[in-house]
Amino acid sequence: MQARPVIHGAVRIAPAPYAVVDEAEVRELSAEIARLKLEKDAVILAHNYQLPEVQEIADFTGDSLGLSIEAQKCSQKTIVFCGVLFMAESAKILNPGKRVLLPNLAAGCSLSDSITAESLGDWMARYPGHTVVTYVNSSAEVKALSYICCTSANAARVVRSVPNDRILFTPDRNLGAWVRRQVPEKEIVVYDGACPTHDVLRGVNVRETMKEPGTIVIAHPECREDVLDLADEICSTTGMFDAVRRHPEALRFVVATEWAHVHRMKQLFPDREFIVADGCIGCRLHCPYMKMIDLGQVRRALVEGVFEVTVDAEDMAGARLALERMLAVPRD
Ligand code: 13P
Repeated sequence: MQARPVIHGAVRIAPAPYAVVDEAEVRELSAEIARLKLEKDAVILAHNYQLPEVQEIADFTGDSLGLSIEAQKCSQKTIVFCGVLFMAESAKILNPGKRVLLPNLAAGCSLSDSITAESLGDWMARYPGHTVVTYVNSSAEVKALSYICCTSANAARVVRSVPNDRILFTPDRNLGAWVRRQVPEKEIVVYDGACPTHDVLRGVNVRETMKEPGTIVIAHPECREDVLDLADEICSTTGMFDAVRRHPEALRFVVATEWAHVHRMKQLFPDREFIVADGCIGCRLHCPYMKMIDLGQVRRALVEGVFEVTVDAEDMAGARLALERMLAVPRD
């Protein structure tokens, strides 16, 4: 029987050879990965934006904070990280004794690339009395220069916890602006980086999808202010599951984040309708980097032990301190 091709993603933006797979192949590869995982003593962690079939073979799926915590708890000797490089680096920093594999080394992050140690050093020189709070979407080198890290799930809490009223928030300007609104008592200088996947979305596009009465808008804080102003809920990817639970009467949700996240939302809440917010170029919000890992690459990672993520020893110490400070901030 001819297998039906399944097409994932807004291929208009990022045509990728791995974006077309067939169901029989998915089943076969998934079974092989499940076997290899045990044989190689590996755990598979996947971010909520990974291809649906990659989320399905993961032991844990989650947001950046959840995966960092999970990475510390797992007992396996190898972590196969299905996400992007900065996430795999964080897993390595928090688990220096473990082997961390990123199945495709090209899976970077343009937000993370928007800040380098040099550009952060330049900002720090301009704001010498400010304490640096860095979003985890950053390199190990940048984390190492920062006092503390944060994720979209804990950014305001982290900023409140810092024993200084003057903060230099890097690198996401939309998340930084949202934190500034929640923590008005502090002076927060925000670096000028952004996630292009979220930053492309405009309020006017979201308004178009809200016409049906009772629609709830859930937005990621990497979206621009005009989008956040329309949102009923602003939260991290994993926080969005609880956001749905807070609206038991609502049947229709517009989700302003990367399209693959809706995969799990639909599984958890099959009786609700989820619509991915439309970017202004007529495509679902799509992160090409998050779609660079497919099942074939996960299998190869397990078989060949590639690609091992390493972090420079000097960066490791500073970045670990910044991440550990974040993990020590009490949760609400
Ligand atoms: P979360 O921590 O909310 O999953 O966000 C990670 C991310 O990279 C968003 O673009």
